Amino acid sequence: EIMKVTMITGDGIGKEISQSVMDIIDASGANLTWDIVHAGEAVYEETGSLIPDKVFTSLEQNKVALKAPMTTPIGKGFHSVNVALRKKYDLYANIRPIQSIGTMETLFKQLDLVLFRENTEDLYAGMEEKVTDDEMRSIKIITRDASERIIRRAFEYAQENHRSSVTVVTKANIMKLSDGLFLDIAREIANEFPTIEFKEILVDNMAMQLVIDPYQFDVVVTENLYGDILSDEMAGLIGGLGLVPGANVGDDMAIFEAVHGSAPDIAGKNLANPTAIILGGCMMLDYLGKTKESHNIRYALDIVLSQPENFTHDLKGTASTSQFTQAVIKQVQQL
Ligand code: NAI
Ligand code: MG
Repeated sequence: EIMKVTMITGDGIGKEISQSVMDIIDASGANLTWDIVHAGEAVYEETGSLIPDKVFTSLEQNKVALKAPMTTPIGKGFHSVNVALRKKYDLYANIRPIQSIGTMETLFKQLDLVLFRENTEDLYAGMEEKVTDDEMRSIKIITRDASERIIRRAFEYAQENHRSSVTVVTKANIMKLSDGLFLDIAREIANEFPTIEFKEILVDNMAMQLVIDPYQFDVVVTENLYGDILSDEMAGLIGGLGLVPGANVGDDMAIFEAVHGSAPDIAGKNLANPTAIILGGCMMLDYLGKTKESHNIRYALDIVLSQPENFTHDLKGTASTSQFTQAVIKQVQQL
């Protein structure tokens, strides 16, 4: 079945890795039609809008998208494109699987964690105010509804995928009201899932435990800010930001992505590792029910990432984005 999806190309390495993932998915025989639209800083400079209307129209038609990273201009009152899309379409669950792949040198091997990050509120709600020139406030919002649905999703995922435990991460000892509410709700929902082990941990300890022994964790659920930070840390455990995808899922729309940003330091040099967005593409194929193609691409990636001549510069190799892409296409076509 031919399915139409939105492809949002981005800034920096976004352009290079967008092409890579579309070429690989096409080679897998997944039969997708790409509705290619542009958003981000480059589009802003051309059109005066970070997210042109075309992007919204396409998303509303297709309901499924793959999105490359975008540069968020700092200051000047810009809101991040990512935050804007998550809020507008209520994509409340940010799901980030951190799974070891390949044979390059990494801190840990055979790690398999899944982070559920609340995606709509917390300090990312955009509620900031200037009190005086010398005092600014950012307000942290935690609500029962938003907390309940992300925590429930984490437990449901754990149950459906036969995972052993769910760990909730907060700083409820200090933020007794906001993080306290999140923790209380997690405890309530944990009671509904008696077969899944429930663990509670404070975020500072979590940051340390992850580096000492990440295998003690399985599914992890947390608020927006902690999730943002911890998922980058988790990526570091398995080889870096170039390897970790994410999904922003609501009740009737899903946008898949790489966790990393537009990497301006290596943009336009054919140096980016496209693995993260390719894995984002695999999550999208799974979501569309095209599990055979997604399985084949993951399998091909694992082979390619087990051959040092294919390692990109972030993995201490010398392969270019296009060499890497060609190697994956060659593997996929043999399956
Ligand atoms: P970044 O994730 O773009 O880069 C951090 C470091 O990781 C850099 O050294 C970069 O070269 C490296 N890196 C990231 N992805 C890589 C890949 N695929 N292959 C090889 N190396 C890779 O984070 P940074 O520099 O903090 O942010 C740059 C811009 O990206 C900012 O404007 C930020 O707002 C934006 N951003 C956008 C996101 C999105 O659109 N989803 C997410 C995170 C940041
Ligand atoms: Mg981030």
